[in-house]
Amino acid sequence: MTDGRFASSTRDIPEVPAVPRHIAIIMDGNGRWARKRFMPRVAGHARGLEAVRTVVKACVERGVEYLTLFAFSSENWRRPADEVSFLMQLFMRALHKEVARLDHNGIRLRVIGDMSRFDPELVRVIRESEEKTAGNTRLTLCVAANYGGRWDIANAVSQLMRTHPERRDGFSEEELTGALSMSFAPEPDLFIRTGGEKRISNFMLWQLAYTELYFTDALWPDFDAAALDEAIASYQGRERRFGRTSEQLVARGLPQSERPHA
Ligand code: IPE
Ligand code: IPE
Ligand code: MG
Repeated sequence: MTDGRFASSTRDIPEVPAVPRHIAIIMDGNGRWARKRFMPRVAGHARGLEAVRTVVKACVERGVEYLTLFAFSSENWRRPADEVSFLMQLFMRALHKEVARLDHNGIRLRVIGDMSRFDPELVRVIRESEEKTAGNTRLTLCVAANYGGRWDIANAVSQLMRTHPERRDGFSEEELTGALSMSFAPEPDLFIRTGGEKRISNFMLWQLAYTELYFTDALWPDFDAAALDEAIASYQGRERRFGRTSEQLVARGLPQSERPHA
């Protein structure tokens, strides 16, 4: 277990829930969605926020416990300044507008990523929103903003070196996992990327070690509850072996969700 609560996919054999306990999504394709309609790219981001609302609601209804959304990568600063600034404003507006509703629906909000480059006012609103919803237990909605998987790992190592200056023989996987920004959540069971690209784009590099990967051509603003169900159905058809053989899973009489599918 990483911090006494969550199994590590490389150290333990985690349980395989029928409904993914943790879903992580790269919400891609907003720009193309808008361009197809001869609209500016940013109109796609605005519609993308509506898809976020739909998917959060669908996850609550399906009993998903953790939903992590990649909203802005550490590489997205390379975009045109006006698009970056629109995204920051959209984030701020969404926090102002949605947090009361999240709270009302029992949703805990967490934001991960390097906040040092954000406007201090945005950081203040983020922290306030996290505090307001900290006691909620129905779903943890984790938004990755100015997040990069490499940043996360490098940051965790730096943090461990600061807290253990005496250490000469390095750190264990468990220690590193515990120092990552997602240490409050189990590893994702299901990863979804919309928009057709088949890459990880520096998302949760460490935690995706044994996550089931699902790629769809659907553009993020078009992704809805039915599309989520398709992704979950695909996940349910997978055999999660965590290094073992199919025969071992059958021999152990594992529950249906963990058995090989013919
Ligand atoms: C994803 O959509 C949203 C962010 C990266 C913020 P894109 O903006 O990358 O959309 P495409 O890939 O250009 O269509
Ligand atoms: C990944 O999408 C980041 C987010 C969805 C926030 P990108 O559109 O930035 O990814 P690349 O550049 O195509 O790999
Ligand atoms: Mg993209």
